[in-house]
Amino acid sequence: MYVGLDFGTTNSSVSIYDGSTVTLLPLDPFSANPRVMRTTLFVARGGTDRKPEPGERFIGREAINRFTQANVGRTIEYAWQDFGKTELLDGNGAVIFQSIGALIDQNIPGRLFQSLKSHLRDSDFVDTNVFGTPYRIEELVAIVIRMIVDRIEVILGNKVTRMVIGRPVHYSHNPDHDQIAIDRMREACQLAALPQFAFLPEPNAAAVAYARTAPADQRALVFDFGGGTLDVTIITTDGKGGSRVLSNDGVPVGGDVMDQRIMMGKLLSHFGVESKIGRQRMPFPAAISDRLSEWQSIFELSHPKYMPVIEDLLHTSTQPELVAQLKVLVNQNYGLPLFEAVEHAKVRLSNDERTNVSMHVPGIDIEQLIERWDFERLIGPDIRTVAACIDRAVAAANLSHNDINVVLRTGGSSRIPAFVRMLTQRFGSAAMVEMDPFTGVAQGLGIAAADDAFFAQLQK
Ligand SMILES: Nc1ncnc2c1ncn2[C@@H]1O[C@H](COP(=O)(O)OP(=O)(O)OP(=O)(O)O)[C@@H](O)[C@H]1O
Ligand SMILES: [Mg+2]
Repeated sequence: MYVGLDFGTTNSSVSIYDGSTVTLLPLDPFSANPRVMRTTLFVARGGTDRKPEPGERFIGREAINRFTQANVGRTIEYAWQDFGKTELLDGNGAVIFQSIGALIDQNIPGRLFQSLKSHLRDSDFVDTNVFGTPYRIEELVAIVIRMIVDRIEVILGNKVTRMVIGRPVHYSHNPDHDQIAIDRMREACQLAALPQFAFLPEPNAAAVAYARTAPADQRALVFDFGGGTLDVTIITTDGKGGSRVLSNDGVPVGGDVMDQRIMMGKLLSHFGVESKIGRQRMPFPAAISDRLSEWQSIFELSHPKYMPVIEDLLHTSTQPELVAQLKVLVNQNYGLPLFEAVEHAKVRLSNDERTNVSMHVPGIDIEQLIERWDFERLIGPDIRTVAACIDRAVAAANLSHNDINVVLRTGGSSRIPAFVRMLTQRFGSAAMVEMDPFTGVAQGLGIAAADDAFFAQLQK
């Protein structure tokens, strides 16, 4: 079977094309929409009853559920674990023995990975230790892709023999990091033992889906704005189902960045970050507050390296009751639910003028109003970055804004009103068309996979 895979930062989808109809596959039985699977991986540590098995892996909504059920609300406890002794040579050539060990989180149920795609460009990400086994980013991505392929084969009752996979136009602003990400993604596909595969820039895929039924000589701009990147392509259609790419551009700005803006702009004050410390009224330590920008780095704060600092702040801050909330956030693993609350609030702001980020659990009480104008203020730098990217793509196609007949919006973040407004100002409301935000790219990838000539071209 020939399939298209949109391997997204936040969500993944798979489609097949039979020459007339595109079908999206129900990849995730645990998801409210089974055709859209969260791009996640949970590696279980394994319980005393060996359920789940140590090292057992889960993807999609089930990965999040497993992590949340077993992890949120538990108290993290570190203890020294002995790994035995190692032989060392001292400076005189004598053999000495040294005990080795590490501080281990005693009852961690497993590791959850999200936004794996964003780590592909991170040259500092060498590997990460998962219960004693080092995993490279390529290996983690390969595990997810392989599990997706296994699911596809069960659903279709057939082997996957060819795959076209989406990729951002640019993973990174830095061309070297871009190349690292491309090489790693290729290696991940090899490790996943994919038979035949090729990559297609994600907005080009959405353009393929659109061009299938478009009239001739349209100039269409695809605005694909997801969780990790904004990707743009400008095409001209031939009226026979085909199209030609006039330009491409992209920037590593997406929904994850906007969640961070809300967290850093509106929620830090609930954790004592605006308090003064000690008699000298020093500012709150940045080593702690900087780590509140992602749930994964909130998790890092539970390490014994940081906990004494937080304990100390409890006694020296002018707002100890708020530092106490920070301690619960870190120590009882409320980072992921907090970020989910932030993401949900951001999504609601696409329809509502104001909403609250709420969290009420033992030890944490947060009710923070966020108004749309304030959210737009926080993401002002992102709106400017995205607008500049659009203007570059139009100029690279040797066109002006007036020449664009259609603006196709896809990707979850393309629903944010500030970006719709920015596009409408440039291209006019008559040009605006929304494609399915979560499956527009996957549909085009499936069509591309079914087309032998197109596929051969991609492999070059
Ligand atoms: N209605 C909405 N308003 C604002 N943001 C939304 C909305 N719906 C979803 N999002 C955001 O869109 C992002 C996910 O979109 P999408 O599934 O298109 O990304 P992706 O394809 O996984 O990522 P990428 O293409 O960047 O790798 C998330 O950040 C999510 O919070
Ligand atoms: Mg996407």
